[in-house]
Amino acid sequence: MEQYVIRGGIPLIGEVEIGGAKNAALAILAAAVMCDEPVVIDNIPDIRDISVLLSAIQEIGAGVERLGKHTVKITGKTIKTVRVDHDSIKKIRASYYLLGALLGKYRKAEVPLPGGCNIGIRAIDQHKKGFEALGAVVKIEHGMIIADTDSLRGCHLYFDMVSVGATINVMLAAALAEGNTILENAAKEPHVVDVANFLNSMGANIKGAGTDVIRIKGVRALHGTEYSIIPDQIEAGTFMVAAAATKGDVVVRNVIPKHLEAISAKLSEIGCQITEEDDAVRVFGNNELKHTQIKTLPYPGFPTDMQPQMTVTLALSKGTSIVTETIVDNRCKYVDELAKMGATIKVEGNTAIVDGIRKLTGAEVSAPDLRAGAALVIAGLAADGYTVIDDIQYIERGYEGFDEKLRQLGAQIERVTCEKDIQRFKLKIC
Ligand code: EPU
Repeated sequence: MEQYVIRGGIPLIGEVEIGGAKNAALAILAAAVMCDEPVVIDNIPDIRDISVLLSAIQEIGAGVERLGKHTVKITGKTIKTVRVDHDSIKKIRASYYLLGALLGKYRKAEVPLPGGCNIGIRAIDQHKKGFEALGAVVKIEHGMIIADTDSLRGCHLYFDMVSVGATINVMLAAALAEGNTILENAAKEPHVVDVANFLNSMGANIKGAGTDVIRIKGVRALHGTEYSIIPDQIEAGTFMVAAAATKGDVVVRNVIPKHLEAISAKLSEIGCQITEEDDAVRVFGNNELKHTQIKTLPYPGFPTDMQPQMTVTLALSKGTSIVTETIVDNRCKYVDELAKMGATIKVEGNTAIVDGIRKLTGAEVSAPDLRAGAALVIAGLAADGYTVIDDIQYIERGYEGFDEKLRQLGAQIERVTCEKDIQRFKLKIC
């Protein structure tokens, strides 16, 4: 079993380079099969969820050629089946983007019900509603979602809730539908805009992405393109918060500062100094951080994917902070693990009441999911003594070279596989 071992208490100092956005890349790779010509996509993060999706794309017959660590060429012309039955695809949430992509192109798709992080019930009713509004019949049978139609027709759809996944998925199918589609109450996240830009670079006609009304004029076919994915807002935010929690000084490079404003604003509110350059943000942690209130909201609000990491920082900030999770149920499971490190956090429903303390202490903890896992790493970096984190496969789903990037900032962290490795690490850094 892979684990991280950390000796904490060292401020992170230096510069870190952020990779491409996981959640944009997953949608864009699925969308790349929508044309027959080759599509070259750059700035793809080299992480497990991406490899799983690429294997599934290859399995249905598309050409997948790695041109470099972060570049892939996809050719949709050779697709043989619209049934995506790759076993590991069930483990990732973004498998559902193949539904929108294949339905748009072939008017039929079969994809296993999505998996992904265990962070509560994550329905897909809005995806279904959107495909049905476009004229597809959508059934769930034997664990598969099956969407089928003779013709996809543009529609006027009002989402009942703001959903990133449903907005992107319906946008994919509508790009190749007949006629015009209007999506209201659409998600505005940066990766929704990135997917729309990508589709437009393939010849789609999508306007308004980034606002809550997206207008799509269906086109008959899409063509090949070359595209580079935007930087990962959440990877960047994670390093910003790690700088704050360890009272360090980190320049987070290759970012779009606008995408990070909700995070920068909260860090500044609790006492960090934040400076922005064109494509970088510097976070200078203060010795005495103070409490605040946070409510997760759709973009441009505070992102749910930054909630656990920020809560760790608040656990080390003076006073009582209130963190309310409004997007995802059951995203406070990591609190029990943090309690082992001395954090005083009470969870009532979807609200965490965080009483700040001066120091966390290292302990053996388990990553319950991707972002909570990253939060536990931040806790370990800030804590006195040694922390061992189990189940880091969750963390590796979404962060490329996490331990390596942290080491470059001066962290004492190593990826280990047995007790002997942990002892060796302790001897090495003594
Ligand atoms: N929801 C419904 N019905 C739907 C769709 C969503 O009830 O048809 C609910 C979900 O249950 C959830 C909320 O709406 O409670 C938000 O769901 P959304 O569709 O916005 O999220 P998602 O597409 O399932 C993506 C990211 C998540 C991120 C959320 C919110 C991917 C692959 N996943 O999930 O990323 O938390 O948006 O921003 O893009 C992560 O990266 O760690 C991660 C979990």
